Amino acid sequence: MIGKKIVMAVTGVVLIGFVIAHMLGNLKIFSGPDEINTYSRFLREIGTPELAYGELLWVVRIVLLICVALHITAAAQLTRMSQAARPVGYSVKREVETTFAARMMRWGGVLLVVFIIFHLLHLTAGVVGFQPGQFKHLAAYQNVVAAFTLWPVALFYVVAMGALCLHLYHGIWSMLQTLGWSTARNQRQLKIVARVIAIVVFVGFSSVPVSVWAGWFR
Ligand code: HEM
Repeated sequence: MIGKKIVMAVTGVVLIGFVIAHMLGNLKIFSGPDEINTYSRFLREIGTPELAYGELLWVVRIVLLICVALHITAAAQLTRMSQAARPVGYSVKREVETTFAARMMRWGGVLLVVFIIFHLLHLTAGVVGFQPGQFKHLAAYQNVVAAFTLWPVALFYVVAMGALCLHLYHGIWSMLQTLGWSTARNQRQLKIVARVIAIVVFVGFSSVPVSVWAGWFR
């Protein structure tokens, strides 16, 4: 059980690192089309000429995919183990201290998987959510503006970022406990750290669809 929790914590750290880097990259949109489109090209050109165009990006994609697979597998196994340890539910509900974020971990996680699949088909592959010929490879700015001009799409992204925020809050907090960093004295501060990271990620990501939808980017 401890091993599975460590797998969740370590893969969680890698995924949080990606999420924060991706959010900072997305914020380049506020500096204009050239800035974010150059960044999109740069992601594919890192390591050239030693590496082929896009090669490092593929390494990152594969590492992320492995982390997501391990994270979900360990979560499913831990859920099964805790259900097997207590096949009969608690007779008194809420006997154990729990938060909304903790209760949402499983369904929030499922929503995030649905979001990521949609997101890759949408803003990476351009095969959903665009008119034929509207999605342009390496034109991240124009693609994002076209994507979020449709309010249901912008709303779906903001709701998914809400799920990500709750998932990160509880996930970071659990991870700090698994890694043995939480003590009776620093619990309050660590919870605040988890909350601040989760809120910054929510605001940072959501600012993009909200700004487009509000008409601030053309
Ligand atoms: C409002 C929120 C988000 C926006 C506006 C956004 C925007 C984008 C854009 C424009 C791309 C394409 C970049 C390019 O091709 O150069 C992209 C790719 C990607 N995004 Fe997001 N993203 C958001 C949230 C997320 C979240 C929360 C995750 C994961 C938890 C995520 C995971 C990815 C992945 C894995 C890629 C593919 C990278 C690749 O393989 O090329 N995104 N995103």
